[in-house]
Amino acid sequence: MCGIVGFTGTKDAAQTVYEGLKRLEYRGYDSAGVAVMSGGEINVVKKRGRVSGLGGEILGLHGNTGIGHTRWATHGEPSDINAHPHSSGRFTLVHNGIIENFAELKEKFFPNTAFVSQTDSEIIVRLIDKFFDGNALAAVAKVSALLKGSYALAVMCTGFEGIIVVKYKSPAVVGYGTDGNYIASDCPALAGLCKEISVLEDGDLAVITPSEVKFYGGDLKEIRRVKKRNHAISAALDLCGCPYYMLKEIRENAAAVKATVKAFSSVKKNLKAALVGVNRVIITGCGTAYNSGLIAKRYIESFAHIPAEAEIAGEFRYKNPVVGSGTAVIAVSQSGETADTVGAAELSKSLGAKVIAVTNAPYSALTRIADVVVPVEAGPEICVAATKSYTGQIAALYLTACLICGRDSSEINSLPELINSTVEHTDINSLAQICASANGVYFLGRDLDYAVAVEGSLKLKEITYIQSEGYPAGELKHGTLALIGEDKVAVVLITDKELAAKSENAVEQVLSRHGKVAVITNVAECAERLSGRVPVIPIPACSAELSPLLSAAAVQLLAYRTAIILKRDPDKPRNLAKSVTVE
Ligand code: F6R
Repeated sequence: MCGIVGFTGTKDAAQTVYEGLKRLEYRGYDSAGVAVMSGGEINVVKKRGRVSGLGGEILGLHGNTGIGHTRWATHGEPSDINAHPHSSGRFTLVHNGIIENFAELKEKFFPNTAFVSQTDSEIIVRLIDKFFDGNALAAVAKVSALLKGSYALAVMCTGFEGIIVVKYKSPAVVGYGTDGNYIASDCPALAGLCKEISVLEDGDLAVITPSEVKFYGGDLKEIRRVKKRNHAISAALDLCGCPYYMLKEIRENAAAVKATVKAFSSVKKNLKAALVGVNRVIITGCGTAYNSGLIAKRYIESFAHIPAEAEIAGEFRYKNPVVGSGTAVIAVSQSGETADTVGAAELSKSLGAKVIAVTNAPYSALTRIADVVVPVEAGPEICVAATKSYTGQIAALYLTACLICGRDSSEINSLPELINSTVEHTDINSLAQICASANGVYFLGRDLDYAVAVEGSLKLKEITYIQSEGYPAGELKHGTLALIGEDKVAVVLITDKELAAKSENAVEQVLSRHGKVAVITNVAECAERLSGRVPVIPIPACSAELSPLLSAAAVQLLAYRTAIILKRDPDKPRNLAKSVTVE
């Protein structure tokens, strides 16, 4: 959610920052900008549109210190004016986050001043310039103390060959390169550039110059932040011959599950210890991560017979939840930085719950709150729509549920091969054609199939913009059936032999109302019964409990192919961004 990047060193800053922004574009892509110090002066190029739109113009920026921003608009429409960096007097800055009290601050300190932009960020640079009395770091610290909300800021000051950084509830890492030092919103932006990084904590300030990095607390006393290995490698950012990251990442589902299973053994002991005495489990997250929680709830209840709930983090944290010392809260997040999920984890911890983070980001905010971190080893996920992180989460949650009750989990070792087979051999193109011309697509299923149906629907709507819902197959006749007609498609997921006949009822109900129906199944009897009557998309057979790993890949492919037919960019859907660090 907005990407920031900065460099100060011996090479060309504009090009370095530009390349960094391209890597961070999944955090927002409605406008972009770069500022570079040249001869003591700061020059800015910024524009509405994608980072590549800056191309030619940034070649005119010459210097060795620069900052950049790729925006996901919150306050103020995407426009050249609202694009970052913002400047006032001798200062120029980029901001990731939201300043909730920007209107009060403006009223208090600049009551009669017309601001240039409609952003909540301009107030910050105006205040820094106002409070500057010769010490730029002190001015940044003073202004940070006034801000409410979330911010990662990279600030440049004319005449100072370096960058001042401050962080509160938005992520920021400093990177140590051979040709200078870096700041970025996350580690993948620094892949191949920095072997070592330091993660800023809330309230930290940092001053980065070509030769050194110093950290300070809000009181301006120097503090230490450890150097950690940057696990992100630049090869992971390669498209590997795929036209889009989404396809590449769907193809990496199997590897994500395999690596997650392998990594799980290292946390078993701590996880088991953390779960002693737990008599209730809440799984929380947002979007796709919440959808993996729908699966986890079913695993935990049916395997371990422990009451489990899946809660949307943004709802859970504001509903005065009943959470106590016998509760384990499993916070699921690909990025580990989603504001609502981090907030839900913090709240749960303050209420005495054990907090378990299931995340793909080892240095994220969520990992710093959690009692135990269960790693998802999906590798960097660049496409805004989550794919391999979802299957990685399912694997981690399956293993967690098995661990709780000592259940044999060895079947999951055979899943990577079956996932690969699903991705390589599932012929989803004709169904994608049907969906592309539909006026609404309903994903239906029961139990675990319903949980995957919700995710299938999210994937389709977010990258194709087709109206879609995920619905329990049994609920169809209680309302949604009213929407079914010739222009609608129902995709029914059937992977549980015991429930197959019940879900087939939904197929019949849609057919009787002249709706179009297709079935994704690995139940042989079901495929036999329906073949010739409706399109049947077979996926490999495995137990019902692990079938979500296969049906998930199938619905991801369906969304991808439909987006391609409709000429949508699946990697950068409209209005969205990855890593939602604002509420
Ligand atoms: C959907 C998608 C989002 C994220 C959600 C949570 O494809 O990617 O719904 O799942 O924003 O993000 P994380 O997992 O980073 O907390």
